[in-house]
Amino acid sequence: MAELNLLLFGPPGAGKGTQADRLQADFSLPFISTGDMLRANVKDGTELGQQAKQYMDAGDLVPDELIVAMAAERLREQDARDGFILDGFPRNLEQAKALDEQLSELRRHVTAALLIDVSDDEVVRRISGRRVCVKAGHNYHVEFDPPKREGVCDQDGSRLVQRDDDKDEVVRKRLEVYHEQTEPLVEYYDEQGVMRRIDGTRSPADVHDHIRAVIATLRLEEDV
Ligand code: AP5
Repeated sequence: MAELNLLLFGPPGAGKGTQADRLQADFSLPFISTGDMLRANVKDGTELGQQAKQYMDAGDLVPDELIVAMAAERLREQDARDGFILDGFPRNLEQAKALDEQLSELRRHVTAALLIDVSDDEVVRRISGRRVCVKAGHNYHVEFDPPKREGVCDQDGSRLVQRDDDKDEVVRKRLEVYHEQTEPLVEYYDEQGVMRRIDGTRSPADVHDHIRAVIATLRLEEDV
């Protein structure tokens, strides 16, 4: 298989970032998270960050005109030439079409859209215990995936905090937005034959094994 262009899908808190960290190490592919890119812009106080913050804090999607150009520019970078793991983009039909157009101009296509499936109740349990490091946003859970030293990131030693948009009422809004705007993409990628469903209710290690098995099968199918 020449390249792996992977999309990670699922509701907020499904474990997309957790799995992306592991997959990035497996396949040496760049991990591109529009959420992380936006949070970096907010932290740096850029114009984009200032515009995006109000939508993120409310649990709404940031307008397409701000996101599509940012994602397109990142995908054109050299390190994404042989593949990528895209997390959080596309998030609605307009973004999916924009991504398809960009890839087809480059004679590329989405290899697989991996849906990490968990219930809304599980999302709330996971997000309430999530902690992220201030330096690079590495993910932990106080109960399900704790760091070795409480409050300290295993990977870079920085402090662990709760995300601004992880408050209960914002999480409920993010779930609503997911069901209304992002979930229809399951059908969109099903029709393209690239949708793969992953049971996200199992442990992070089991979910990781399942995704690796799916990718191995895709590679075998491509070689046949
Ligand atoms: P974004 O950062 O993309 O957030 P999200 O999609 O809501 O997803 P999360 O990062 O909350 O969850 P995750 O699935 O990565 O779960 P995680 O691995 O952390 O977007 C944030 C905001 O930015 C949006 O609301 C929007 O405003 C804006 N935005 C971003 N992209 C946009 C776009 N394209 N268009 C418009 N706006 C955009 O796991 C969660 C917790 O569970 C962790 O604590 C983890 O340790 C734990 N956990 C993970 N896996 C398991 C497991 N298997 N079992 C038990 N616990 C687990």
